[in-house]
Amino acid sequence: MRYFRRFRMVFEFAERHLPEPTLPLGFHYVEWKPNHISRHAATKYECFRDEVDSQVFPCLGTQDGCLTLMEQIAGQKAFCPEATWLITHASESGPVDCGIIQGLANSSDAGSIQNVGVTKTFRGLGLGRALILKNLHGFREHGLRRVYLEATAENIPAVELYRSIGFRLIRTTFKQVSEETPASWRD
Ligand SMILES: CC(C)(COP(=O)(O)OP(=O)(O)OC[C@H]1O[C@@H](n2cnc3c(N)ncnc32)[C@H](O)[C@@H]1OP(=O)(O)O)[C@@H](O)C(=O)NCCC(=O)NCCS
Repeated sequence: MRYFRRFRMVFEFAERHLPEPTLPLGFHYVEWKPNHISRHAATKYECFRDEVDSQVFPCLGTQDGCLTLMEQIAGQKAFCPEATWLITHASESGPVDCGIIQGLANSSDAGSIQNVGVTKTFRGLGLGRALILKNLHGFREHGLRRVYLEATAENIPAVELYRSIGFRLIRTTFKQVSEETPASWRD
């Protein structure tokens, strides 16, 4: 067994200023459409396949696992299209999906971020920040007062990103993960 320390964090709209999201030149937001499930799933896989969270949640380390996860997220009553976004980059060979975020409106006043990720080539350009801000604006327009997320403590880029936007730590938990990845999650 391995134990991962996890941070539960919250962003309260009443407590924090919410800046407008901005994207570098050549990048665009794509709003949610039901036929985008496979685009979100493929981008999620590219973002998470080599990262610590694919050890914490083995489904993030396979294409099938990401597709099943996306179907589960989008199929929930709480699924919030306003908080769910793709970012594409206009390359010479056509648009390339390079970032994703999904949101759930779990109650009348609180939402949660499911997965945020930026593919390796495009990290460090401000896209992670742009995805979170776009998601928070969507949740606020949906009428929510606060947004929760969870992050693996050793995932420094993610934890720093959330802190820099104004998320505060409310709880530390431990997730127990079997060292053996179930065969059903292998490629
Ligand atoms: C976390 C992740 C989404 C950040 O995306 P990104 O586009 O590279 O982040 P940004 O360029 O928007 O950076 C915004 C802030 O995040 C923090 N940050 C980003 N990368 C960092 C790094 N390598 N080390 C420390 N802080 C970092 C900084 O505070 C940064 O602000 P600054 O540029 O003013 O210093 C990206 O690393 C990723 O997709 N990781 C794999 C998937 C994942 O783990 N997702 C989070 C699950 S909880």
